[in-house]
Amino acid sequence: MKSSNANQGRRKFLGLTGTAGLSTFAAQAIGVNLGMVDIVQAQAGRRAVTPFRFAIISDPHLYSAKDHVFDRHLEDAVAQVNGLASQPDMVFVLGDVSHHGEADQIAKGKQILSKLKAPIRSIPGEHDWYLDMGAAWKAAFGAENWSFDHKGVRFIGMNSIIVPDFWTSAGLTPAQRRDWFMALNSPVPGLWGVADSTLEWLAKEVAPLPAETPVVVFTHSPLWDYYPRWNFQVSNSKQIRDILGKFTSVMAFHGHVHHTVFNRIGNLSSIGTMSTSWPWPYPPIQLPYPEFQSNRVDPSNTQDGMGTATVAMDAMGGGFVVHNGFADSVNPAIRNGFKV
Ligand SMILES: [Fe+2]
Ligand SMILES: [Fe+2]
Repeated sequence: MKSSNANQGRRKFLGLTGTAGLSTFAAQAIGVNLGMVDIVQAQAGRRAVTPFRFAIISDPHLYSAKDHVFDRHLEDAVAQVNGLASQPDMVFVLGDVSHHGEADQIAKGKQILSKLKAPIRSIPGEHDWYLDMGAAWKAAFGAENWSFDHKGVRFIGMNSIIVPDFWTSAGLTPAQRRDWFMALNSPVPGLWGVADSTLEWLAKEVAPLPAETPVVVFTHSPLWDYYPRWNFQVSNSKQIRDILGKFTSVMAFHGHVHHTVFNRIGNLSSIGTMSTSWPWPYPPIQLPYPEFQSNRVDPSNTQDGMGTATVAMDAMGGGFVVHNGFADSVNPAIRNGFKV
């Protein structure tokens, strides 16, 4: 497992957001026909921002087993972020830190993440939540919804995996309730979203903010109907987008899908980030963007298609997103010496 880390730092693939001009230039410079190198863009806010970076780690899915391979993956992610030449001001952890929601798994995640040089902010995933309804996760990571300003940017994190109670009338135990969330395509929990109280909270949080404020939002799953059959969605994403609709620029990052994907609806750019545990396949639909899907060609490389992300916020409130994969096999062009 460690052998693949030799490539850390020199292989990067996919993605940037920024001004349209920069993106166009970069697309031409890098060559969009590489397939795995995709250029995305977000509208820039107009409020002045002090440039800085933040990083994203998502979906560690830690097990209770000692020295489990996913422990190593998360340690690799921490080492990758700590090794960045330009350190992030903070690291956002986008949920599913545990696989079964067990307290020891969540504690192990917190302990590994505590090795990051930068402070972390986290939101929960469905795997973290439904054994004890978030008790262990909240004890370890704090509030499930949060909002704060940093260098001119408003960061907002929300718990997006709330479903109506299907377990009480069925007489399910907590473990049985949790188990219905373990399968990607389980129909039992139904579509999840943010709580009604979170919608009200969000509206109050953003009400006083000027429209030109750059906004960065984090939810576990995407703020659009990517593939609801696998819960690649937030059921009230339309209402969330409406609440955030007054802003010039909103960048919305998510985990859960365990691969990179991009979409833009109105002012909101949605960016999916890789996991540190395993890559989910792309659903059988035509993607809005990119047309090219990540190429995980090396089945013998267990970290193929996994990694972290780094975002450099520019002075115009745009963000340059780099997906830092663990392994070069994600991008044969880079593996073969092409420099991005
Ligand atoms: Fe996950
Ligand atoms: Fe998830």
